[in-house]
Amino acid sequence: MRLMNIGIALTALALAGPALADAPVALSLDATKTEARIDRHIFGQFAEDLGTGVYGGIWVGKDSPIPNVRGIRKDVVAALKALHVPVVRWPGGCYADEYHWQDGIGPTAARKALPNHAWGNVLETNAFGTDEFMDFVDQIGSEAYISANVGSGTVKEAADWMAYMTMPADSYWGKLRTANGHAAPYKVSMLGIGNESWDCGGHMSPAEYTSQLKLYGRFVHNYNNDMPTQVIAVGPGGLETDYTEAVMQTYKKNRNWSWDMHGLSLHSYTWMAWPPSWKATGFGEKEYAEFLKDTLKMEQLIETHSAVMNKYDPEKRVSLVVDEWGSWLAPTPGSNPSFLQQQNSMRDAVLAAFNINIFARHADRVRHTNIAQMINVLQAMILTDRDKMVLTPTYHVFKMYVPFQDAAFVPLSYKAGTYKVNGVSLPRIDAIAAKAKDGKIWIAVTNVDPNRPADIDLAIAGMPAGKAVGETLTAPKFDAVNTFDAPDTVVPKPVGAAIAGGKLHMTLAPASVTVVSLVP
Ligand code: AHR
Repeated sequence: MRLMNIGIALTALALAGPALADAPVALSLDATKTEARIDRHIFGQFAEDLGTGVYGGIWVGKDSPIPNVRGIRKDVVAALKALHVPVVRWPGGCYADEYHWQDGIGPTAARKALPNHAWGNVLETNAFGTDEFMDFVDQIGSEAYISANVGSGTVKEAADWMAYMTMPADSYWGKLRTANGHAAPYKVSMLGIGNESWDCGGHMSPAEYTSQLKLYGRFVHNYNNDMPTQVIAVGPGGLETDYTEAVMQTYKKNRNWSWDMHGLSLHSYTWMAWPPSWKATGFGEKEYAEFLKDTLKMEQLIETHSAVMNKYDPEKRVSLVVDEWGSWLAPTPGSNPSFLQQQNSMRDAVLAAFNINIFARHADRVRHTNIAQMINVLQAMILTDRDKMVLTPTYHVFKMYVPFQDAAFVPLSYKAGTYKVNGVSLPRIDAIAAKAKDGKIWIAVTNVDPNRPADIDLAIAGMPAGKAVGETLTAPKFDAVNTFDAPDTVVPKPVGAAIAGGKLHMTLAPASVTVVSLVP
């Protein structure tokens, strides 16, 4: 990796716009002090059967001219492998509570083609079912998070699904799975009991939901001892705590030998107002700042619901699972509005970094999240159009943050300063640090201000370090995007700096995300 020398850095800054004289932001860390592990599952993804998220984005079919392995796109698999995706949630979302798994197994030609009622009633072949999802997860080296149908399904249907996936090959369900091409039991690392049961999942009261939770928790079994399944209950979708209270109370008071749960789901999108109409590109600085301000509500949501969870589970055994988060913007002009297709800009990259940093700071309670959604839907990693594929700025942030997976959080002290525009105030910088399993210290720092570079001075104690090396992601403008014709507008560039007298000095470009490791 090439170190960006000071001359090049200064030229880059001169090109970046007028640099106002600001005092450097002082940060400090002690490499010997570590806190909670940043569970790799906080970098999880969500792939709902929605629009072209699955059909087109993952699945092209075995006979497609688009290069594929057993119907699954090779280019998408290669790109996702580089992200070390820890877990993928499927089949929904709202679709999960309309999905009947037996429609999607067996010979493809015999599967039921049905309208996707949750997302635009488009006719779907069900060619991508359980076995194809498991193949996909295996190809990218990830784990499966299955959302069971509580809204329009039954306990028996969900129990049979888990049996199909996890029973031994010589059992009734194992024989059926073997006949469909997979003798070995699958591993299901997470099982969601319903989705947004307070809304599209059946509009249930908290009490109605908790009675379902106990039944599904009791009778839907995992039979594969090689992978214990974590059960995730439906939780809140905002600041209201009624679901959190009811589910955690049920966990505390009614949990016995017969059922258990390991996670409580929280859903929170950044959309400003419903229906989402904020532009994905072609917006001004005010919209840049207001949208980012809105995403910071994640901190309050986590703190509010963690406080309730602490009452019932002070040992923090149950994880707060943010299994839907990200930006929800106006659909790409000309696209089917039910497909939730949107472009992804440098603002989304900053938004992703903000949220990941919040999750890392709450790593003791937040041990799993899923950004919505992986391909072609909402804040995607990847956009595809037939044989074309492009990686988004959000993809690059997730790739740059890979070293934080399972690393130990290292407290970083700093005064962030303020970036202000049109009465909106945001922290000028946002940063986290962590110690990876190999002992390396990693720093991620975002310069939120789209106008001014930020000088940082990081004092490092507890380790010898000679330089910092890594990558920085920035763009000609905060609304810049990658397109099929111009895929490299927002891509990370190598960056580095010397460390002298135990201090790292770096200049961060306006609206940028930088991840570096400290090395001798
Ligand atoms: O991600 C899109 C939708 O948002 C999901 O299907 C639903 O759970 C949420 O409301």
